[in-house]
Amino acid sequence: MPSGMPAVPARSSLRDRWRGWRDRLLLDPGFHRWATAFPLTRPIARRESRALFDIVAGFTYSQVLLACVRLKLFDLLAAGPLDTATLARKLAMPEDGAQRLLAAAASLRLLERHDDGRWGLGRLGAPMVVHSAIAAMVEHHATLYQDLSDPVALLRGERPGTAMSGYWPYADTAPEAVPQSLAPDHVADYSTLMSASQPLVSEQVLDAYPLARHRCLLDVGGGEGTFLAAVAKRAPQLDLMLFDLPAVAERARGRLGEHGLAGRTRVFGGSFFADPLPKGADVVTLVRVLFDHPDERVLLILRAVHAALPAGGTVLVSEPMSGTPGAEAIGDAYYGLYLAAMGRGRSRTPAQLQTLLEQAGFTRVTLLPTRLPLQTRVLSARAG
Ligand SMILES: C[S@@+](CC[C@H](N)C(=O)[O-])C[C@H]1O[C@@H](n2cnc3c(N)ncnc32)[C@H](O)[C@@H]1O
Repeated sequence: MPSGMPAVPARSSLRDRWRGWRDRLLLDPGFHRWATAFPLTRPIARRESRALFDIVAGFTYSQVLLACVRLKLFDLLAAGPLDTATLARKLAMPEDGAQRLLAAAASLRLLERHDDGRWGLGRLGAPMVVHSAIAAMVEHHATLYQDLSDPVALLRGERPGTAMSGYWPYADTAPEAVPQSLAPDHVADYSTLMSASQPLVSEQVLDAYPLARHRCLLDVGGGEGTFLAAVAKRAPQLDLMLFDLPAVAERARGRLGEHGLAGRTRVFGGSFFADPLPKGADVVTLVRVLFDHPDERVLLILRAVHAALPAGGTVLVSEPMSGTPGAEAIGDAYYGLYLAAMGRGRSRTPAQLQTLLEQAGFTRVTLLPTRLPLQTRVLSARAG
């Protein structure tokens, strides 16, 4: 064994021993040279080099997307492909700059170069037009980007006043924090953003869990009521209730009124840490709520939900979860750092959420399949 290598503990699993052996091999520059030359290992070596380079360069990819969003490039191309000179004029850019941006976007599959040399939307560009929420998230990431400029300081907790904690003021866990007294202008930006991105989520939840057998649904942390409006369309038989901070509840009243749902919904303002939740619902939804908070606060929320439900009532927890196959980086890298910048929340695995649900008195915790698990996963549980 090369000197300085940590010894493998005697009781490590076969897989861990294999990992140790492989890592020692990969640390050998001679092996690396051999692996890139040998025909059977060359494709693997190339794939892994590419994967590493994508991480190294990922921030430039995001900035290419940001430029496209700020210039409304996807909207410009929604009517059909355009040539470089026309685009340069529309983007108010020298042709060289436009050419660079268009080529960069095409290399990332955000655009597609047609055979006649014009530029069109590709497979990743078209969704940018259809889902305006993605562009809203890209713009919002400018705030997160400020906090990530020194990721080590962020993770060491040396950046208490992050830009993200200003954006999400309810995530403040200081004992003196009183989220229920947040003013309307403190909740406006995040409520608008959540509302814009809600259609990406509501469809998944409502496809995963049929609400036909329920009578009354309470959406806790329901924001401006966009989820509730989607529920109202799918399940015309349901009575609807929403609970959120008073300033957000006020926005929800206005929004639900615009949807013509004022007569069908009851909206309650308060804090789920300080106020009891309204009773009367046989199903409660927590959509993108729990991951904002640390475990001890999640337990408070779940206990409040349990107290509001009748025996046999259902809670649905919908949020992106950690460890989702194929979306590991979204749960642990993206949300891991996003939520650290915001406060003390975390993305959890279904098993971790199950433990918290059971501690709060819920039983029969079930993970329901969703069509796009990277956007949201759904757990249902019964009030015991
Ligand atoms: C990430 S947003 C999700 C909103 C909505 N469920 C959605 O998916 O679009 C979290 C929501 O929880 C609400 N919230 C945060 N802390 C709260 C508290 N202590 N009491 C009640 N609602 C709270 C926020 O105002 C916000 O509307």
